Amino acid sequence: MSALAQRWHAASLTLRSAMLFALVATLVVSMVGGYLYNAMRQEMLHRSDLQVTGRIEYYRNMLSRQFPLDRLIANTGLFENMLGNEQDILIFQLQGQAPLINVNPSSIPPPLITPTPVDKPQLPSAVKAGETAQGIPLRGVSALVKLEDGGILQITVVHVMVNEQKMLARYLWRVIAAVIAAFITIALLGYWVMQRALQPLRRMATEAAAIAPHTLTTRLSEQGAPQELQRLIISFNAMLDRINEGYQRLTQFSADLAHEIRTPVGALMGQCQVALYQPRSVEEYETLLSSNMEELERISRTIENILFLARATHAQSALHYRSVDLATEFQRVTDYFEGLAEERNLSLVYEGQGQLQVDAMLFQRALSNLVANAVRYANEGSQITLRTSRVQDKQLIQVINQGPPVTQAQLEKLFDRFYRAETSRSSHGSGLGLSIVRAIMTLHAGEVLAQCHAQPPDAEIIFSLFFPLPAPEHIA
Ligand SMILES: Nc1ncnc2c1ncn2[C@@H]1O[C@H](COP(=O)(O)OP(=O)(O)OP(=O)(O)O)[C@@H](O)[C@H]1O
Ligand SMILES: [Mg+2]
Repeated sequence: MSALAQRWHAASLTLRSAMLFALVATLVVSMVGGYLYNAMRQEMLHRSDLQVTGRIEYYRNMLSRQFPLDRLIANTGLFENMLGNEQDILIFQLQGQAPLINVNPSSIPPPLITPTPVDKPQLPSAVKAGETAQGIPLRGVSALVKLEDGGILQITVVHVMVNEQKMLARYLWRVIAAVIAAFITIALLGYWVMQRALQPLRRMATEAAAIAPHTLTTRLSEQGAPQELQRLIISFNAMLDRINEGYQRLTQFSADLAHEIRTPVGALMGQCQVALYQPRSVEEYETLLSSNMEELERISRTIENILFLARATHAQSALHYRSVDLATEFQRVTDYFEGLAEERNLSLVYEGQGQLQVDAMLFQRALSNLVANAVRYANEGSQITLRTSRVQDKQLIQVINQGPPVTQAQLEKLFDRFYRAETSRSSHGSGLGLSIVRAIMTLHAGEVLAQCHAQPPDAEIIFSLFFPLPAPEHIA
């Protein structure tokens, strides 16, 4: 059964719809045919009943008045003719005697009928139904009539519905033929109609099939499409937009990546080639190796960061929220960067406190990326401030440093992958630190903001992290 259902579901929509149309049409035609057949049958029974009661009334009238019984008996043939149907039955019988007239060509035993009394009119409702041995329906009535001489005569009239039954059988066959014809016609017409109706769908499939990576900007045309398909086309086109955007980003990303790796690899190769050009002292090799090691570490960090960013988009569910104490975190990060800060004569201070529900590892990473930038890009001898406060339903964390002014145009690009503002100092970085900060904030349903307040001749550069309170995981 399930295999059959599977095959049905796998059949073409056109075929399925055509079959369903045809079945519905068949059902309707069958119902109408059945109704008409029944109405016709009822009508025939009614007419048969009128016929038999009419005959009884006729004989009753005739005999109760001037027509003597012996004349009637002498003319039996006349009655036989009057009956019209070869198989109809007519019995005249004086009460308690053998029948005087018994017209019954097929010798069908008449049904047992209680006769209508002399003084009662003959009503069609008194007709008695019966059946011959062959199953042909009978309609019979019997009535008493008082003759001129005072004798009581019983008249029985039975109509055998042979012709009616034949007609009904023929009619039934016609109904069946009509049902079959309706099924075939509607199935064929339905198939044709559905084929035409589904043409836009096929056109859409053809258009969609033509879309390849290099034609991702192609869109399915909404023009002339039926309403039902419009929404599908809109969704499909929107999906193409998203895919195209992702594809463009990926293309850009891999190009950037290749560029990013190519330069240091080229430099490494150059250095090695120069070193191999002639024999060198052990010290020279050591210097070369340690310089290469530094470069390789940088490449490895870049690769690791790129991988992190690639994974971060799907990592929402992998976050391990736990409570962190912000003062402790500030302490930890300032301790970590103390050495580097001292090299540039910078002072690191922090203020404010609070608790935050975050993925601790990612939070530390975001914070240290900001502090690393501050330590790297701040003016020598200036102060770096870490600050936290509660702003409405958010916990705000800021890293502030003094440095050369950053333009609005640059601020907008800082969080892009591989972006580095064109200053001589920034050539050390890979331009991924802030992209990672933004990815981490997105994972926490938070936001990151970069501002630059001019304080001539320098500027105050502020990076703000906004964490929602309570953390998204704890809202539900
Ligand atoms: N505190 C800051 N002050 C001034 N400029 C900054 C500051 N932080 C970031 N920038 C600018 O933004 C650019 C991008 O920063 P980002 O952290 O993304 O990359 P990076 O520091 O160059 O490299 P990475 O962090 O990957 O080692 C930097 O190159 C720098 O020009
Ligand atoms: Mg950085």
